[in-house]
Amino acid sequence: MFRSNTCGELRLADAGKTVTLAGWVQRVRKMGGMTFIDLRDRYGITQVMFTDEHNAELAEAAGRLGREYVIQVEGKVAERASKNPNLPTGDIEIIADSMRVLNPSEVPPFTIEDESDGGDDIRMRYRYLDLRRNPVRRNLELRHRMTMEVRRYLDSKGFLEIETPMLVGSTPEGARDFVVPSRMNPSQFYALPQSPQTLKQLLMVSGMDRYFQIVKCFRDEDLRADRQPEFTQIDCEMSFVEQDDIINLFEGMAKHLFKEIRGIEINEPFIRMPWADAMKYYGSDKPDLRFGMRFVELMDVLKGHGFSVFDNAEYIGGICAKGAAHYTRKQLDQLTEFVKRPQIGAKGMVYARVEPDGTVKSSVDKFYSQDVLKALAAKMEAEPGDLILILSGDDAMRTRKQLCELRLEMGRQLGLRDKNKFACLWVVDFPMFEWSDEEQRLMAMHHPFTHPKDEDIPMLDTDPAAVRADAYDMVINGVEVGGGSIRIHDSELQAKMFEILGFTPEKAQEQFGFLMNAFKFGAPPHGGLAYGLDRWVSLFAGLDSIRDCIAFPKNNSGRDVMLDAPAALDQKQLDELNLEIVLPEAKA
Ligand code: AMO
Repeated sequence: MFRSNTCGELRLADAGKTVTLAGWVQRVRKMGGMTFIDLRDRYGITQVMFTDEHNAELAEAAGRLGREYVIQVEGKVAERASKNPNLPTGDIEIIADSMRVLNPSEVPPFTIEDESDGGDDIRMRYRYLDLRRNPVRRNLELRHRMTMEVRRYLDSKGFLEIETPMLVGSTPEGARDFVVPSRMNPSQFYALPQSPQTLKQLLMVSGMDRYFQIVKCFRDEDLRADRQPEFTQIDCEMSFVEQDDIINLFEGMAKHLFKEIRGIEINEPFIRMPWADAMKYYGSDKPDLRFGMRFVELMDVLKGHGFSVFDNAEYIGGICAKGAAHYTRKQLDQLTEFVKRPQIGAKGMVYARVEPDGTVKSSVDKFYSQDVLKALAAKMEAEPGDLILILSGDDAMRTRKQLCELRLEMGRQLGLRDKNKFACLWVVDFPMFEWSDEEQRLMAMHHPFTHPKDEDIPMLDTDPAAVRADAYDMVINGVEVGGGSIRIHDSELQAKMFEILGFTPEKAQEQFGFLMNAFKFGAPPHGGLAYGLDRWVSLFAGLDSIRDCIAFPKNNSGRDVMLDAPAALDQKQLDELNLEIVLPEAKA
């Protein structure tokens, strides 16, 4: 028997037992004739004591151990003289009778403790050591528990877990593909799936009815805190369903996860907010509803009083920060600087404070009478002690997005974005298309297989930009944790979609012929959704970046600094693949 117990297991009730533990030396402390070792494994830390009195030779050997040595210890469980209430094993220690070094360790490049002294880069380079730290390990354990619950829930609802290939052709999700050259098919490439979208639809044609897969997806896009080039979806598809069936089933799954993983019971249905409202009131298709500060349009109150910035604006919107009238001039200047940052791009910000006596003081007092300012406060439902912040601009959508950033920043500053509070909603009725300035054409907002709302189908010919889709996203705390749609299952409607998206019939056939042909053989009505597993785990773990719940993530430049990938191929491999490298300088 290698070990009788783990390092997280022993309690006072075990006192007197002879045990064998194995693990890593987290710390060595010498005090007089005693040496204490904190022995760590995945399950916890147990203190091991070596005394000169008990066995001088052993105590000396223990004193020579370094951090991260792997050892095996046998000894007796004893009640500790000075207990450590912060450790589950803190009431006991092991009085060592024997010790074996299983493997020495070099001095680790950073301390492997909850609060490490290692910077981000070094911890990523030695990620296998970082993973020994409790906070990181706990995230992986949480991830495991979540995938187990997902499988349990979906299995109970009759879903089949089916794997789809990783070497596929390009799937049109709107990001760039990662491609893989084929040795056996010179000058041809596979693409890694951006999602198994078309394959899961084909499984519906196969009659699989309820499919799911916890699946890696690959997208070559710019990275952010909630984006990785390879990430994991909980990908699902169902046949013979309408939008409500899908929403209800996956809302059920969300509630199941909240209950089983976080112990939070949610009984009321999630809000369903039309996309147009989300944009109008929050300037975002993923509003953070942990706090209010809904946008109020102020054109009627503030236009026409001689303040040219507002008089010339297409859109004027305000938010009311409850109880924030104490904001100082300096704080307000900093907020103005915040909205003027190039990433946000507002030209300026106007503020108004409601004083204890109900009068309103604003940064544009000279243009507005007290009556108008009071009308403003009334429209904003602002009370004494509240602060009103206003942005304007000549493009309503752009200004709303700026106001969204301001709202989120105020929410942060006022402590309203509590990580232990969760606000879930569905955003529904997305537009079918969005205009791309880059491509100068309409693009599918979700993907080209999304079904338009039945009542909007006649507008496909007359006003496609106004057509709404049977598409929905689930949003929690301002994070899009999943999205999906009802799909087109009719090859004629699908062909029409491709036409609107600017595909010639030949091009559509070339790229999506496999799907359109399949639809000719009895495709059932179907729809589905994919949740972003990494985002769910990081929300539940309270993480700022999804990186921290991925065992071996990429850094912000898309590199794996531990494996040093991506890297150049040697000439032999290039030759086998019939590839030639043309460096950018050579091209110029
Ligand atoms: P979508 O592109 O919305 O839909 O992706 C579904 C969910 O996957 C997560 N996600 C990501 N997570 C981490 N890093 C990324 N780069 C990343 N990109 C997306 C998000 C998102 O909500 N085939 C459709 C689903 C469907 O229609 O059924 C799809 O992939 O949480």
